[in-house]
Amino acid sequence: MADISIRGAVKRFSGQEALKRLDLDIRSGEFFTLLGPSGCGKTTLLRLIAGFHEADEGRLAIAGEDAGHLPPWRRETGMVFQNYALFPHLSVFDNVAYGLRQRGLPRAELAARVHEALARVRLGPFAARMPEQLSGGQKQRVALARALVIRPRVLLMDEPLSNLDARLRIDLRRDIRLLQQELGITTVYVTHDQEEALAVSDRIMVMEAGEIRQIGTPHAIYDAPEHVFVAGFIGACALLPGRVRGGALEIAGARLPPPAPLPEGAEVTLALRPQDLALAEGPGPDRLAGRVRLASFLGAQTRLTVALDAGGEVEADLPRGADGRLPARGAPVHLAPLGGPLFDARPGPGQGRRLA
Ligand SMILES: Nc1ncnc2c1ncn2[C@@H]1O[C@H](COP(=O)(O)OP(=O)(O)O)[C@@H](O)[C@H]1O
Ligand SMILES: [Mg+2]
Repeated sequence: MADISIRGAVKRFSGQEALKRLDLDIRSGEFFTLLGPSGCGKTTLLRLIAGFHEADEGRLAIAGEDAGHLPPWRRETGMVFQNYALFPHLSVFDNVAYGLRQRGLPRAELAARVHEALARVRLGPFAARMPEQLSGGQKQRVALARALVIRPRVLLMDEPLSNLDARLRIDLRRDIRLLQQELGITTVYVTHDQEEALAVSDRIMVMEAGEIRQIGTPHAIYDAPEHVFVAGFIGACALLPGRVRGGALEIAGARLPPPAPLPEGAEVTLALRPQDLALAEGPGPDRLAGRVRLASFLGAQTRLTVALDAGGEVEADLPRGADGRLPARGAPVHLAPLGGPLFDARPGPGQGRRLA
């Protein structure tokens, strides 16, 4: 177990900043996820913690110890990669035993530790197999056992499920989370998949272009985004441009009461999730008018995709039971916004920040 403290971390590649002065703290025993689109700096930050990269500026401490200049093998981290990175010429047993042999463990203790690690990932009977005789999910379990067998202070995982098919991804992410809770091991997990991040994490750090947009629990990230990028990246969400005029919020042809006092002329972006819009009986000054493009039955609800008359598109969820009066494709509809977060859309340093 460990806590990780990063202050003012900068990493440049040929003059370009891949990480722009990051400050973050990862708590002991927590499952901490780095989430963001491809190229935002997730792997770079993970490699910085592992010691495969050195930061150009800033400090890194693991369990209170200055770790920024320690070589990787002195940091006591275990790493799991997207492509498994197993040794193809070694058996499952020998793959898992590798780190313990390097540490010169006595033979009997080594065998006991390897078997225990394999049992934990439910691969006990597979010790004698070669990697090529395993499925993708089994290979990733071996990689997980290999990372855990050295009893690292920190477990680092870089998109470990990305090479697996959808069903297996859900099974294995559940197993990873159960194992992490059982061991109470501090875990830093990288993914670009927002649903995966919400499902497994204690806290999520959302990154965009080398910057931190928000750090928070899955609930906070989903329900209370602090930046327009977070709102747009997590879950289904329409981002509608608007402006404050005559004390009202003008959005897509509707005039809405502003959720907080805002200066006249302020340019804003309103974020609306499908559950933030209700089907209204008829038109009104505070309704969004449009036409139905698509109705998708999702089980618990039906999701309407509506092309707004003022331009742009929103999605609205109709609860189960409302299906009887489902509007036809092309039918005009009027939607009542039930409220969503509002962001600063004016160009400049505060751009994208939450206003109300
Ligand atoms: N070894 C490297 N040399 C040069 N540029 C790199 C290197 N590693 C990463 N980058 C650049 O740094 C940025 C962040 O990359 P990365 O951390 O791999 O993103 P992510 O893992 O979020 O997809 C990207 O612009 C990428 O091209
Ligand atoms: Mg990456």
